[in-house]
Amino acid sequence: MGQEIESQNPPPLLTAYQMGKFELSHRIVLAPLTRFRSFGTIPQPHAILYYSQRASKGGLLIAEATGVSDTAQGYPNTPGIWTKEQVEAWKPIVAAVHEKGGIFFCQIWHVGRVSNCAFQPNGQAPISSTDKRIKISNEVDISTFSTPRRLKIEEIPLVVNDFRVAARNAIEAGFDGVEIHGAHGYLLDQFMKDQVNDRTDEYGGSLENRCRFALEVVEAVADEIGADRVGIRLSPFADYSDSRDSNPEALGVYMASALNKYRISYCHMVEPRMITVGERMEVPHNLLPMRKAFNGTFIVVGGYNREEGNRAISSGYADLVAYGRMFLANPDLPRRFELNAPFNKYNRNTFYIPDPVIGYTDYPFLDAVSYTAKS
Ligand SMILES: Cc1cc2nc3c(=O)[nH]c(=O)nc-3n(C[C@H](O)[C@H](O)[C@H](O)COP(=O)(O)O)c2cc1C
Repeated sequence: MGQEIESQNPPPLLTAYQMGKFELSHRIVLAPLTRFRSFGTIPQPHAILYYSQRASKGGLLIAEATGVSDTAQGYPNTPGIWTKEQVEAWKPIVAAVHEKGGIFFCQIWHVGRVSNCAFQPNGQAPISSTDKRIKISNEVDISTFSTPRRLKIEEIPLVVNDFRVAARNAIEAGFDGVEIHGAHGYLLDQFMKDQVNDRTDEYGGSLENRCRFALEVVEAVADEIGADRVGIRLSPFADYSDSRDSNPEALGVYMASALNKYRISYCHMVEPRMITVGERMEVPHNLLPMRKAFNGTFIVVGGYNREEGNRAISSGYADLVAYGRMFLANPDLPRRFELNAPFNKYNRNTFYIPDPVIGYTDYPFLDAVSYTAKS
């Protein structure tokens, strides 16, 4: 079967796809990638080159996780989109992607308890669904996380509104849409997962209650900018930052079907095999039940290579495949997939350094002329 797909021309990943009003010329998506290079929460001019290198005509790019408010931050040098200055700084970056014909969504997030008082206004406690501190993290030393403060029920609409305003700001900055970050143990995930959410009000307990906050954000954002400009990322199977669920499949299927009501553009799901943000493992589950439950565009991510991506598309398992580390290291990934060319290897040591060039914009492009001549 693999060989049959390999010989298809064009390969399934390189076929066109209509995502609502967006005409995609291929199925290869840039996954959101935090790079710690936005000093003082302001996206920097070096991001213009970085994103435009990865843009292609009719290709979908998702920008790195971007804070919705001054309580949303939990890492150094990550961008925001709640101030005028941030919006202005995004504009030339978005324009550069559009110049190349790319379609650009902004991933908007609130980290919740994956934070520290030092990142919070007036040194206050980070907010969450709970007042329990993170006890286990595969990624970071847990002493970096402060004990959170449980959001009061009357504060929840204020956070929903922060997402709404951030989405409006993203459109103002020129983005084509937003991806709501509902994955990886951040605030929305802290509400959805039953091993974190210990609330007894209408935002805790049953599956329906735990998903209420995320769905309210979806509704508010869709009302604000139009459902066809909205996607969401979910990782029901992941347990990053101590955020896990006792029945991830039920959670994933519930969310996938509940989302249909809002008619949003896409649902972007992380493969269960992604045990940590950057490692894959073989597991018995897959995303088929969620794919079947969701009526819109279904994007999968997590450990995909060219062959598996082609198979996911040709079998109908997904509409689009997002690539993180491969796209980080190969700015011309769609072109390399098209030519079945070799890849640059990513360097993990430079993922999160503040350097504006090294490990960021210095990954080489394929020399297509000599590559074609050699092959
Ligand atoms: C350097 C780096 C930064 C990441 N930043 C984000 C992020 O901002 N938002 C997010 O949802 N996922 C983030 N992820 C996860 C990726 O989007 C993707 O899901 C993961 O790398 C698995 O895909 P891959 O196997 O193609 O790399 C990040 C991963 C890496 C390696």
